[in-house]
Amino acid sequence: MEESQKQRDNLILIGFMGTGKSAAGSLLAEKLKRKFIDLDQLIEENSGSSIAAIFEEQGEEHFRELESETLNKLIKAGAANLVIATGGGIVLREENRKLLKTLGKVILLTATLPEIIIRTSGDRSRPLLDSEDRLETIRVMLETRKPFYREHDYCFDTTGKDLESICAEIISALRLQ
Ligand code: S3P
Repeated sequence: MEESQKQRDNLILIGFMGTGKSAAGSLLAEKLKRKFIDLDQLIEENSGSSIAAIFEEQGEEHFRELESETLNKLIKAGAANLVIATGGGIVLREENRKLLKTLGKVILLTATLPEIIIRTSGDRSRPLLDSEDRLETIRVMLETRKPFYREHDYCFDTTGKDLESICAEIISALRLQ
């Protein structure tokens, strides 16, 4: 099988912060007996810094660079048969959107604004949400990013759903079992 064809076997979760990419991705991997990779976690391990520290010390552009580098490394390593959860802003770069398509099936998770507010409340690990008016910050970011999330193969709304139902929906729609 061609290297590029093998890489189509990966399942890649994209979506705004708080849409459940990491939690659903990890459960999905467990159910499908696949390896799970959380891209943010991989970036933290490779750089030896937390996401918050990277943003604070080197800035968002540098973090976006690390996201691209990590995707390229996965492709070069012939990553296959994985479930990969990405950070919410990975789609901002055109380069990354292309790399995601090369890696596998792109699955968008969505949730309503109120649900995202609830799910991300009290969380201090997301530097982009560190603002006085979280609701307005999230509302504007969601609107700005809308066009970038359009490039996906599948889309699932996670609003009001638990992880089990989200995984069941994905498995059924993609005929994975
Ligand atoms: C970001 C989302 C975060 C993380 C970083 C930036 C974003 O990941 O990559 O804080 O730009 O939306 P999660 O979507 O997993 O929170």
